[in-house]
Amino acid sequence: MTVYAIIGGTGLTELEGLTIRQSLSVNTPYGVPSGDVHVGDYAGREVMFLARHGHPHRFPPHKVNYRANIWALKQAGAQAILAVNAVGGIHPAMGTGHFCVPHDLVDYTSGREHTFFADDLEHVTHIDFSFPYSAALRARLIAALAAEGCAFSDSGVYACTQGPRLETVAEIARLERDGCDIVGMTGMPEAALARELELEYACLALVVNPAAGKSAQVITMAEIEQALRDGIGKVKATLARVLSAA
Ligand code: HPA
Repeated sequence: MTVYAIIGGTGLTELEGLTIRQSLSVNTPYGVPSGDVHVGDYAGREVMFLARHGHPHRFPPHKVNYRANIWALKQAGAQAILAVNAVGGIHPAMGTGHFCVPHDLVDYTSGREHTFFADDLEHVTHIDFSFPYSAALRARLIAALAAEGCAFSDSGVYACTQGPRLETVAEIARLERDGCDIVGMTGMPEAALARELELEYACLALVVNPAAGKSAQVITMAEIEQALRDGIGKVKATLARVLSAA
């Protein structure tokens, strides 16, 4: 049976309903992960959970040790990762509260430790990344969102920006011209690192605000936090459904 791990993003620093049996503090050659890898039972099966930003929320997107996090999950025995990400909506269909299961991404980050193949330069491995997300895991997420009756898009392009600031209106217009539908700060290098370690990986994105210039107002943390509070129940129900069906 596939061993699943959930990486919780903003608003999901702990997985309520997870009966924790073990908390592993994994030391990695890349430093310390954002927190312990919790191993327990959720929706009737064993699952691992890691809070991307720490618990409580401590690491901003550009300070997350993505390499340590992915390495720790692999070390703990994970085979498939369900990553939860809060995003801004660019495409008109991506209103607040909408879900998206992206099928592709564009990486606009810079200066992040983004590969495990950094030191042994004689054996650099060029992973294929044509399709960054696992088709099988995406299909499970899509089926679960449909069964939960959530409003969602079954594909989309995720733009990963550096943060921690939000984007300018011109930057979002550029991402839109690039073909991006949603924008977040944590999808990369996480997805690529998972591929490097041969972990299945898919993203469940929750839109928590219209991206810059996509509404008449400026973006406030209060609206983002409210959207997270409103959407988190559906996130958990969707994850539970994926796991119980898997
Ligand atoms: N931009 C980038 N990251 C985000 C946003 C946004 O508008 N909302 C939530 N994460």
